[in-house]
Amino acid sequence: MSAENPAAPTVTESAAPRSAAPMWIIVVTLLLLFLGGYYFDQHSGWFNAKVYAPYANAEKLNSFQPQSGETQRIARGKFVYDSVCGICHGADGLGKPGQAPPLAASEMVICKGVSRLAHIPLAGLNGPIKVCGKDWSLSMAAMGAALPDEDVAAVLTYIRTSWGNQAGPVTADDVKKVRADMGRNAPALTGVQLLNLPE
Ligand code: HEC
Repeated sequence: MSAENPAAPTVTESAAPRSAAPMWIIVVTLLLLFLGGYYFDQHSGWFNAKVYAPYANAEKLNSFQPQSGETQRIARGKFVYDSVCGICHGADGLGKPGQAPPLAASEMVICKGVSRLAHIPLAGLNGPIKVCGKDWSLSMAAMGAALPDEDVAAVLTYIRTSWGNQAGPVTADDVKKVRADMGRNAPALTGVQLLNLPE
């Protein structure tokens, strides 16, 4: 008996036909790669730090964004505070023992008028003062004298509205006026002289 069974069906394996990728796909892919590369070259700045600076973090970026007047002044004020004042008075406004008195809840910061307060960064402050019921006798240079009116106004607005302080804003005009009244190179004030100024 033969092993072959003429009645058995012949099985043919189905296989996907292989053929080369069509030329147009290769051309389109190369074209897209080229266009992508060109776009990257024109728009990326090639990851140069100068292109992305000074946006080191979201907070900093935010301080450069256009905002409504008040929010903008406070964001700017925080930026100035952190770069100029915070090192002594602390990021939390609580001051540092032996270095600087607190600004949070300080009667010199949250007072009604802003003229006396504006004298402090513009002229400097020396010798005995009382802040939040505690005695201090240190010395602060005119840390704001070299800043533009807008920045002094911004930083004072920031300290008047932060850490629980709820006092009104300070405008660049307020600062300008105090600067004009003071005259150039005014000597640092003592606590007594400061308290004798109208609020
Ligand atoms: C180098 C440290 C230092 C820096 C920086 C500094 N201060 Fe002062 N600040 C002092 C000291 C010290 C006193 C207290 C002076 C005294 O005892 O007479 C003071 C006092 C004050 C007071 C009055 C007292 C109080 O606590 O309310 C205010 C307001 C103030 N500083 C605001 C500022 C602002 C705004 C800036 C930034 C523009 C600034 N300071 C930067 C050290 C500093």
